[in-house]
Amino acid sequence: MIFNDSEKLVEAFTDHFIILMKLKEGDFYVALSGGNTPKIWFEELAKNHKDDIDWSKVHFYWGDERCVPPDDEDSNYGMTKQYLLNHINIPKQNIHRILGELTPAQAVELYERELNNISPSGAAFPIFDLVILGLGDDGHTASIFPHQIELWDSEDLCVVTTHPDSGQRRISLSGKVINGASSVAFLVTGDKKAEKVMEILNMKKVSSSYPASRVLNESNNTYWFLDKPAASLISE
Ligand code: 6PG
Repeated sequence: MIFNDSEKLVEAFTDHFIILMKLKEGDFYVALSGGNTPKIWFEELAKNHKDDIDWSKVHFYWGDERCVPPDDEDSNYGMTKQYLLNHINIPKQNIHRILGELTPAQAVELYERELNNISPSGAAFPIFDLVILGLGDDGHTASIFPHQIELWDSEDLCVVTTHPDSGQRRISLSGKVINGASSVAFLVTGDKKAEKVMEILNMKKVSSSYPASRVLNESNNTYWFLDKPAASLISE
């Protein structure tokens, strides 16, 4: 879905979020993305949806986290706290952050325990109601990067990855958890992403090296929320 600008995109995505919540009986389990794009959505929620969303039903997890303390400027949790969590009335026990201040192995072990709490009885792995993803300029998503694309197919629930430029360690959900979600939504804005969006949605051969092209949600509920600049090459 293509929107004139990021404001219209996040308004539409909020409607989508509320509909998905209404369709779910019981609590609603969401994996958030990091980076800058979600900030626009968080600001929309903090400004216009403090009271018309029952936040006590929402459980926030993260699709990925940088291996840094929660108050580090790189922390996805820290960004979410600043732009959203500090502004809504959500129970602390509904926030399930990845403990980036620990060693990667410790953070994975503890997060996988949290993830297993949302496995429906008998399910082999956690099933999120909604996984929200961004798209990196290099075609990465969550924190699985092209140079480590094999980690997408890990048997584990989450993997330890390395940012290709900074070498920063990251924790990321694996492909099987992302694709096992009931619904997946990409939020992508800006002309810097236009080429990768076109290559992925047009299934160009080159896109097979992009982790984002591996998002093939089994229940086929993968939605792309794009602003016009990010969608500017799709017609090609
Ligand atoms: C992260 C992300 C990552 C992000 C993309 C897009 O931790 O950085 O989860 O996958 O979504 O890099 O980032 P922007 O929204 O900043 O372009």
